[in-house]
Amino acid sequence: MECEREVRRRLREAGQEQLLRFWDELGSGQREGLLGELRLLDARELRDHCSRAQHAYERESSAPQRLDDRMRPVPAEFMGSVRRSHPEERRAWEEEGYRQISQNKVAVLLLAGGQGTRLGVTYPKGMYNVGLPSGKTLYQIQAERILRLQRLAGDKHSVQCTVPWYIMTSEFTLDPTQRFFEEHNFFGIDRADVVMFEQRMLPAVGFDGRAILERKDKVAMAPDGNGGLYRALADNRILEDLEARGICYIHVYCVDNILVKMADPMFVGFCVSKGADCGAKVVEKAYPSEPVGVVCQVDGVYQVVEYSEISPDTAEKRNPDGSLTYNAGSICNHFFTLDFLKNMAGTLGERLGYHVAIKKVPYVDEEGNLVKPTRPNGIKMEKFVFDVFQFANNFVAFEVVREEEFSPLKNADTADKDTPSTARRSLLWQHYRWALRAGAKFTDAEGCAIEEGSRVSEAEDPPVICEISPLISYFGEGLDLHLSKKEISSPFILDVQKV
Ligand code: UD1
Repeated sequence: MECEREVRRRLREAGQEQLLRFWDELGSGQREGLLGELRLLDARELRDHCSRAQHAYERESSAPQRLDDRMRPVPAEFMGSVRRSHPEERRAWEEEGYRQISQNKVAVLLLAGGQGTRLGVTYPKGMYNVGLPSGKTLYQIQAERILRLQRLAGDKHSVQCTVPWYIMTSEFTLDPTQRFFEEHNFFGIDRADVVMFEQRMLPAVGFDGRAILERKDKVAMAPDGNGGLYRALADNRILEDLEARGICYIHVYCVDNILVKMADPMFVGFCVSKGADCGAKVVEKAYPSEPVGVVCQVDGVYQVVEYSEISPDTAEKRNPDGSLTYNAGSICNHFFTLDFLKNMAGTLGERLGYHVAIKKVPYVDEEGNLVKPTRPNGIKMEKFVFDVFQFANNFVAFEVVREEEFSPLKNADTADKDTPSTARRSLLWQHYRWALRAGAKFTDAEGCAIEEGSRVSEAEDPPVICEISPLISYFGEGLDLHLSKKEISSPFILDVQKV
């Protein structure tokens, strides 16, 4: 084991010796903890990281990078659409997706290493319960969708099949996520088919280029962004695991979208049919300044341009038919072939640039007092998962309907959008639509029929509360059997125990 002297030498080499400035005051346990953390930091990498952060910050604050003049929308021939493509074509894509799933060639990969600071909870977002009648958490909903999808694909092709679930966590989320899955018996999924792994962490850096101590015995660290995925795949030998299972296609998604269609057969089938190595799901932007990234080309290569990187003028730009020019809002649902991921986990992934986030980072001051800053004081450097689009040989985008597929949980209920309430409402409206389509008749507490015409705006709760377990329906299919012509009084939960 490396001793203090050796660690100190390396920190000096990296210009970061201040990280040991409280050494003399620390007890032996604290010393061991701090050394353990510092041993993982390579001197050259640490030096480069800190100076890169400082320079990026200086560049950003003098002239924030704008990409407006270099952007072009995605050409129509590289776009599929749930709304605009021919129904026959859509059916064929879906069939192709089911075929691939039934042959055990499709996996899902969840990005769940974020800290969820905007939502304001101390536990991983996937464990959040948005207040559905069933009390199900995001993780449970996702697990049940996988189980149902396996069933559907298996039945279609008279086989048994598996969609393995890879979950990227970070130092913050790994232990609680693991415990949560254990406590819930992996929600009925075979635990061998749930693979959790950890992304790397990077020190937060002050504006003076020095790494920040958050306690006398702890460096302020943050996950290296969801683009840390590529390094984490290599670090944790995940590519070997995918290969050993015969997986060819991977659907990567964010934890926070309550409507996520896990391993969506139509999206997967579309990408496979087009021979794509890389694909992204998009929705029409709700309004020009909506805080979602836009899928487009920059200098001729595909990219997601974050809302902070374009001017309001560009965001407002419209086509002759009145639609927004940069309309393809990324919902953080990506398709990759295994071969593409293998390339990214090697030297190409290393070439991805960092994005700078200026944050409030709690720290210890020179006197050793803990300070919670009221203004941003630190730089966090992150890679983004979609920055690999530039390396795709055949990139495609697939447009889906927002009401059916995108309702993210980002903020606490004090905000007016992307909150637990809006997520819950989106799901309940969707299930209400499915139930009506299946022929359900809803009645109120007095037994009087609630007419479909009594619809209120989707900004409010639906007129009836009806929740359908993903174990029964993945995306609205197969409900006639349970609901056709049935009189149902609200609130109603359709779950396996009740079938
Ligand atoms: C993300 C997308 C944005 C998209 C929006 C849709 C990125 C960088 N941005 O924005 O283009 O329009 O979702 O909802 O993808 N995560 C990690 N490790 C990290 C950081 C984040 O795994 O180090 C995970 C989070 O747990 C989450 C996902 O990545 O599942 C997205 O992260 P978040 O910071 O919430 O991105 P947004 O800004 O919401």
